[in-house]
Amino acid sequence: MTISSLNTTMKVGMFGMSKIMPTPYFVMYENKLMQNLNKLKELEEKTNVHILHTVKSFNQSSVLPTISEKLSGISITSPKELGMAQTANAKHIHLYAPAFKYDVLESMSKDISTLSLNSLNQWETFKTLIVSKGLRINPKLSLEIPEHCNPNVTDSRLGIDAVEFLDNYHNNSNQFNQLEGLHFHALFQDKGEGFTLLIQYIEKNYSAVLPKLKWINLGGGHDFTSPNYDVDTFVKLLNDFESSYPNIKIYFEPGETVTQSCGDFVTTVLDIVTVNKKQIAILDTSIETHLLDVAIVQQKLKVQNTNQEPTPYLYELSGNSCLQGDIIGTYFFTKDLQVGEQIIFEDMMPYTMVKMTKFNGMEKAKFYLV
Ligand SMILES: Cc1ncc(COP(=O)(O)O)c(C=O)c1O
Repeated sequence: MTISSLNTTMKVGMFGMSKIMPTPYFVMYENKLMQNLNKLKELEEKTNVHILHTVKSFNQSSVLPTISEKLSGISITSPKELGMAQTANAKHIHLYAPAFKYDVLESMSKDISTLSLNSLNQWETFKTLIVSKGLRINPKLSLEIPEHCNPNVTDSRLGIDAVEFLDNYHNNSNQFNQLEGLHFHALFQDKGEGFTLLIQYIEKNYSAVLPKLKWINLGGGHDFTSPNYDVDTFVKLLNDFESSYPNIKIYFEPGETVTQSCGDFVTTVLDIVTVNKKQIAILDTSIETHLLDVAIVQQKLKVQNTNQEPTPYLYELSGNSCLQGDIIGTYFFTKDLQVGEQIIFEDMMPYTMVKMTKFNGMEKAKFYLV
């Protein structure tokens, strides 16, 4: 299914839309999504790798079939996401979670293509399951990544300690007879430098394991669709790796980069109050309901008509819930704000809609594709 065959009731021209659609809503721009998907497809073709969309980053059911058709598959973590991947006709479904319940994984295993287990305990429990199995390893690369999303931290539960895995492998390789893959998710918004470290690290440390593998999953965190991504180095490193290990299929499972820069979040100013000379604009949204990333990691958002440099129009944007901490942030606008005007947050597709709640009785924001 292509975007042009999507339900037309949700395809509304942006000009008409801003006048008639009640806020708050998320809006995705079809042309920008296609630009990203075309870039990703081109990378696949240049390198012969397989790019899977990580569905936890973006899961709108009206758009998933398009992403799925263009890319090589979908990466999932739960039965619910399996349903989404199946409905979207994913060609390859990769499953990973930090831990599985036996009955849940057993029933999912017949519907997935590859599986990554996260610990040696889970390997012992599931190694006889009939599915192509791999292990997630924590390579503990030294990279500048914010702590809360850095899977390389020394005491991370995500992935097996690399030294522990290699010791076990070298001491008793028979216990890994059914091992077909390795999985490394170690990067974050990487423009190519981290990838270089990762692939060099794998070639250096896993020479005894690589010849026995059928696949490697090099995780997410690759900023493939950024104009600054170092495509040439990426292509060269992969071509070299593939000529050394022609039997290994290479998967990536990016999330953010797939829908990055593809859409905005539109809200309205409900009131403006002045408290201790501070101007506070109350919006028809809330960080607890529509912008959880702001609450969790104090993310600074890109707000239209604001400047980095100080202006006379300083406003605290806040939410409409009864939580005192429901504050979106303080921004310098280019002009005075008015009650009733729209405040547009840019680049809000990945990891935002997927976390919406109905806290304080607020409705979830709608989603439109234009
Ligand atoms: C195991 C795994 N793979 C892939 C991803 C997608 O990462 P990103 O959205 O940074 O590309 C994540 C994100 O948390 C992840 O945990």
